[in-house]
Amino acid sequence: MVREIVVYPDKRLKLISKEVTSFDGALHDLLDDMYDTMRVRNGVGLAAIQVGVDTRALIINIPLEDEDGEHDQPKENTLEMINPVIIEQDGTEKFQEGCLSIPGVYEDVERAKHVKVEYFDRHGEKKTIEDDDFLAVAMQHEMDHLDGKVFIEKLSYIKRKKFEKEWKRKQKEGLV
Ligand code: CO
Repeated sequence: MVREIVVYPDKRLKLISKEVTSFDGALHDLLDDMYDTMRVRNGVGLAAIQVGVDTRALIINIPLEDEDGEHDQPKENTLEMINPVIIEQDGTEKFQEGCLSIPGVYEDVERAKHVKVEYFDRHGEKKTIEDDDFLAVAMQHEMDHLDGKVFIEKLSYIKRKKFEKEWKRKQKEGLV
């Protein structure tokens, strides 16, 4: 089921999400709904707070391109991360990011190049994953949401000012 996306500057995006303690049907429904919501909005990742649930769960699904250049995000390719923690990180890299909670805004953000993350899957099984490419960026972006942070907070003062001004204009015009 597609849920409504929480849009900036909704205060819920500032919440520190809570640890998941039961890996039950409610969590599975949430993860399934997050997948439906992300897919219909053409996102590559989504944190639970972006559908208004302050729980430490996120999903990432980097689209595959088939022979005809069509993009798809099969559900079985979805990385579901519960209570994720970065246990190693090094290097830095700039990458252009966007966010379903801040639609239409894309900015370069600097993050760690390589991260190793410990997390639980939907059944409560502990896992580890590491990456030094786009998945590393996506994991860091989504994990920031669990701590009440959005990517535009990482912009320079001037770029942030410019963003806020343009965002207010878009809001006034009913574009977001
Ligand atoms: Co985001």
